[in-house]
Amino acid sequence: MNAILRNTLDLDAWWMPFTANRQFKAAPRMLASASGMFYRTPEGQPVMDGVSGLWCVNAGHGRPEIAEAVGRQLLELDYAPGFQMGHPLGFTLASRLARLAPEGLDRVFFTNSGSESVDTALKIAIAYHRARGEGQRSKFIGREKGYHGVGFGGISVGGLVNNRRLFPLLPSDHLSHTHLPAVNGFSRGQPEHGADLADELERLVALHGAETLAAVIVEPVAGSAGVLPPPVGYLERLRALCTRHGILLIFDEVITGFGRTGAPFAAQRFGVTPDIMTTAKGITNGALPMGAVFVNRALHDAVMKGPPETIEFFHGYTYSGHPVACAAALATLDVYEREGLLTRAAALESYFADALHGLRDAPHVTDIRNLGLMGAIDLRSRAGAVGARAYAAMVEALKQGILIRITGDTIALSPPLIISEAEIDQLLATLRRVLAELD
Ligand SMILES: Cc1ncc(COP(=O)(O)O)c(C=O)c1O
Repeated sequence: MNAILRNTLDLDAWWMPFTANRQFKAAPRMLASASGMFYRTPEGQPVMDGVSGLWCVNAGHGRPEIAEAVGRQLLELDYAPGFQMGHPLGFTLASRLARLAPEGLDRVFFTNSGSESVDTALKIAIAYHRARGEGQRSKFIGREKGYHGVGFGGISVGGLVNNRRLFPLLPSDHLSHTHLPAVNGFSRGQPEHGADLADELERLVALHGAETLAAVIVEPVAGSAGVLPPPVGYLERLRALCTRHGILLIFDEVITGFGRTGAPFAAQRFGVTPDIMTTAKGITNGALPMGAVFVNRALHDAVMKGPPETIEFFHGYTYSGHPVACAAALATLDVYEREGLLTRAAALESYFADALHGLRDAPHVTDIRNLGLMGAIDLRSRAGAVGARAYAAMVEALKQGILIRITGDTIALSPPLIISEAEIDQLLATLRRVLAELD
């Protein structure tokens, strides 16, 4: 880090999220500005963004259209309460999102993050069953390796042990993950084997009783665990089984939403429609915190009961539908639509896949997967030190001018949807040099 910054910045007070704080503060990695595909460090070194920030800056950094909309909105209406009051932008945004959504998911509840979207979706599932007199349906089914944020609901249905083991959890059970490198190694797009893993839902129904199960939640493509596209036929089977047993299906599209898989939402890419869909991240291009839960109209309508003066759903956030976030989201949707970004990943998928799979013979690589503009490279772990090699890769990558994401010994890539073919080449050529440097 730059010497002036090191002397003036006190790093002690910020308890950083999902960070090895002491390791970081001993050797900080800083980003100071960003434009388009590139960050800059405080020293002025360009760093290509290989992960859209944290899977959220889908239209690239520093979009003036979004900045201007936010600035205007701050002066027009900086805040308005969303409880028993409304403002026009919230309704405009909800209607616009409903038009973009998969068939039928045209009721929208606003949150401020993916974690809040997930907890909101789980509560909506319970509220729906209650409203229909099936209040005993209160357990959830998640999936191993799933990531659904850090609320108590999200960690309960999530499947990453480090996020779960410290905390009390909601009643839940889990499907097996679909990472099967022995049979699906180096697959491009949806892997061939594993659809039958959806049938495990039958086993869980037999174990718990369908009448106790509220919802199944999965990421259509698991992201944080290292880009696991669904096996061919898997989501279709899960959909059919949920319908058969009266269990709601929730797709967590916090990463896959807003163009990442080549369609506005992964539900559309795979032709499988959930009952509820959670989103966040790309909704504002990462510029302001916001999330949205899309709900099937029939579910929504089932909850709208009792005398009209009753609050139908006791849930919401001070910043649900925040006017400035709404302005950012509307400007973001304009950019996405004007530049065709919600489908651009489909056009680039095969070029990106070729470049990514070109690393198959690079040192330490044990598997590579991709779908849309998401890709992952598994590295062989160092003996007794899981995660150390990928961490070294991240540090070296930054030195060489690319930002990558790591989880365990998996490297994930999810570049902004504006990336050019030449930039894809640059990203993967740099990553090849990084892998060659590692022991
Ligand atoms: C699928 C999924 N759900 C939920 C979340 C949580 O989102 P947030 O960090 O905005 O709370 C994430 C974050 O990466 C995610 O990938």
